[in-house]
Amino acid sequence: MRKSTIISATIAGFISVPAVASADELVLYCSVQEEWCRLMGESFQRETGINVLMTRRSSGETFAQLMAERDQPRGDVWWGGTGDPHLQAAEEGLTAAYESPMMSELQDWALSQAEASGNRTIGIYAGALGYGYNRDLVDDPAPACWADLLEERFADDVQVANPNSSGTAYTLLATLVQIMGEDEAFEFLGQLDQNISQYTQSGAAPIRNAATGETAIGIVFLHDAVAQAVQGAPIGSVAPCEGTGYEIGSMSLVEGGPNPDNARLFYDWALSPEAQALGAEANSFQVPSNVNAPVPPESPSLDEITLIDYDFAPYGSSEVRQHLLARWDAEIGSQR
Ligand code: G6P
Repeated sequence: MRKSTIISATIAGFISVPAVASADELVLYCSVQEEWCRLMGESFQRETGINVLMTRRSSGETFAQLMAERDQPRGDVWWGGTGDPHLQAAEEGLTAAYESPMMSELQDWALSQAEASGNRTIGIYAGALGYGYNRDLVDDPAPACWADLLEERFADDVQVANPNSSGTAYTLLATLVQIMGEDEAFEFLGQLDQNISQYTQSGAAPIRNAATGETAIGIVFLHDAVAQAVQGAPIGSVAPCEGTGYEIGSMSLVEGGPNPDNARLFYDWALSPEAQALGAEANSFQVPSNVNAPVPPESPSLDEITLIDYDFAPYGSSEVRQHLLARWDAEIGSQR
């Protein structure tokens, strides 16, 4: 069905498609876990016959790539990754406005990304931030709060990603600023730095490292900690007692990308319940944005977690994101 739509569109001749574009191609920039990225690409390709060229990069890295390619866009769709850099990409004009017919099936939190960006991005999943710890390496009492991460017993035993490359780590930065105030958050991060063994590039790497025992604690989205536990690792999850932030994982169409028709086909498909159900198959337990998509039983329940009222519009703005990242570089990153 979809394939024939594409074929007739091709026969009709889409004059707006640049000469370099192939009607049978889609360049997918993906910012979730590799396993889910691959399954999405393969499933779309099987369903439509469109050849998917997929690259997996963290959220901040993909944003930087879109900036670098702005005069000659090479990607078609940016699927997944935290919502803040998607909002920034919208503000920078790197992504295109589109109103999918699937919007009527989406949760309000998913539509709020579209509202904040003039329809240049949309929510595809949600997940709360927290941390996971290796039960074999952490004695009782188990940590329960953000403040507990500063304890001396965790010296050199905590990992989190670098907020420049990782949307997960930027969510931590923005969350702490919203809970504590900016100066206090940077003071906290300075103290936490004494317990950090490594700032990883990718957001979920710290919990993979906790699962293998390389570190005791990884600050990640809770569904990433659950994914390790589901696979048998001795990982406990903590939704911090002070309250925590969350992500609206998002999707955007690249402005001026080489295959805009295929990009819109992918966009509509990715919002369907069937496509969103692929997450759990790929060991990814975010809450899907389509109200008709099954919520995996393993998904941390957002209703049972103390969530802050995360203010996505300002923290996804160029001004605030650039400011917070520059301050993190000056006060934390460059001090290593
Ligand atoms: C993991 C999580 C996603 C999140 C992504 C951000 O894949 O499962 O929910 O959106 O990390 O990745 P990043 O590497 O940018 O922190």
